[in-house]
Amino acid sequence: MQRRLKIGVLYSRVRVEEKWIFGAMEKLGLDYERLDDREISFDLENPARWQAFDAVLERSISYTSGLYALRILNAFGVPTVNTVAVAEICGDKLTTSAMLARAGVPQPRNMVAFSVEAALEAIETFGYPVVLKPVVGSWGRLLAKINDRDAAEAVLEHKAMLGSVQHSVFYIQEYIKKPGRDIRAIVIDNRVLTAMYRKSEHWITNTARGGEGELCPITPEIEDLCLRATAAVGGGVLAVDLVEHPVRGLMVNEINHTMEFHTMQPVSGVDIAGEIVAYVMAVAGRSNL
Ligand SMILES: Nc1ncnc2c1ncn2[C@@H]1O[C@H](COP(=O)(O)OP(=O)(O)O)[C@@H](O)[C@H]1O
Ligand SMILES: [Mg+2]
Repeated sequence: MQRRLKIGVLYSRVRVEEKWIFGAMEKLGLDYERLDDREISFDLENPARWQAFDAVLERSISYTSGLYALRILNAFGVPTVNTVAVAEICGDKLTTSAMLARAGVPQPRNMVAFSVEAALEAIETFGYPVVLKPVVGSWGRLLAKINDRDAAEAVLEHKAMLGSVQHSVFYIQEYIKKPGRDIRAIVIDNRVLTAMYRKSEHWITNTARGGEGELCPITPEIEDLCLRATAAVGGGVLAVDLVEHPVRGLMVNEINHTMEFHTMQPVSGVDIAGEIVAYVMAVAGRSNL
């Protein structure tokens, strides 16, 4: 008889998503262990403790903790959801953009500069407004919509003087005049499970910032774009953010690798937590063949 699979779940806080994931694992009677990222440590000389896992699901809130944990686990040969390669790409908006560009997936125009002067020049070639974003970040934090040169100079100077290291990479995007909403789709293992509009009066539509969810039909175009986008970054359990450009149509804004779905699961009626668990089990099973 085959040995029971053992699953680890790395997490920072039991948000509603983790509650649903643990619930789905318990319902299936799985052998799983909760791994609090504030409590664990890795002994690099002693991988056996970790190699006992057939797969680890990473749900850290901290990008850095999650990324380095994945790096160690993958180095130990432990399969993870997602892989460190995918986390590396999706956790960094600039790396995501580079991979999307390489794959020819439509996205807003981006420019990158490493000094205030070069950033100003890049912004001027775009014309206003532009959006400046930290390359690592979520929940719509520290995004700046810059409407004129005065604002550009001010924000760039603030970032240069007050920002941390990653704020010295100036990631500049054209501003997309969206129709008061964007689209969030969940893709697991090359299947687009569900999609939702996020509507807001504000140009930042994140539900963490008050955006409201409404079911969005998965058109063939949405499906095709999401699958091309997730393939470009390596696949797994992903959330794709799409924006609708008034002339150029749908484009990919970003891809999240440890997404929240507290709005999406009730709005869609899709058991996203259950689907994630099923995928983790498939990854764990594959590694045992
Ligand atoms: N270039 C842009 N043009 C218009 N709206 C944007 C642009 N970039 C981001 N937004 C809006 O801001 C939200 C948050 O941006 P995003 O890049 O996804 O950062 P975060 O990782 O913080 O969610 C998006 O969902 C979208 O509604
Ligand atoms: Mg986003």
